[in-house]
Amino acid sequence: MNAPNLYERLGGEARIRELAGTIFDKHKNNTTIHNRYVDSDRDNVIRLVTEFICNGTGGPQAYSGRDMLTTHRGMNISEQEFVAVLDDIVEALDEHGVGQREKEELLMISWSLKPEIVRV
Ligand code: HEM
Repeated sequence: MNAPNLYERLGGEARIRELAGTIFDKHKNNTTIHNRYVDSDRDNVIRLVTEFICNGTGGPQAYSGRDMLTTHRGMNISEQEFVAVLDDIVEALDEHGVGQREKEELLMISWSLKPEIVRV
């Protein structure tokens, strides 16, 4: 038997969708970044972010969205905005009772995407 992957340890798709919902709602209340999401379709962003996390953590789901570079290109996203997003992710993981090891792994995956998101 293989050790459970991050997707499984996060509790699978249903738990990841809840997490994505909490992250989105935190973004809407985060003064550093909320202006970025004024025109967003909440359900659609949550759907795409859920797929992205599931796919990126070892789940069987396909990701139907755009890649990170294409998505964020031209938005001129700052380091401060990037940290604000990471802050929201950490808070959401804490509120959902995600374990330390899983938090660290998801945070490291998120951090590694910085070159495809900040000032691209
Ligand atoms: C690790 C960090 C991040 C991840 C994993 C991430 C992931 C995503 C994903 C999966 C999408 C949907 C892609 C699509 O539309 O096809 C998206 C859209 C978007 N992201 Fe990010 N993102 C990150 C950081 C940021 C940052 C720092 C900002 C700026 C504050 C930002 C602003 C946006 C905006 C404005 C959209 C479009 C939302 C909409 O369609 O209404 N993202 N992101």
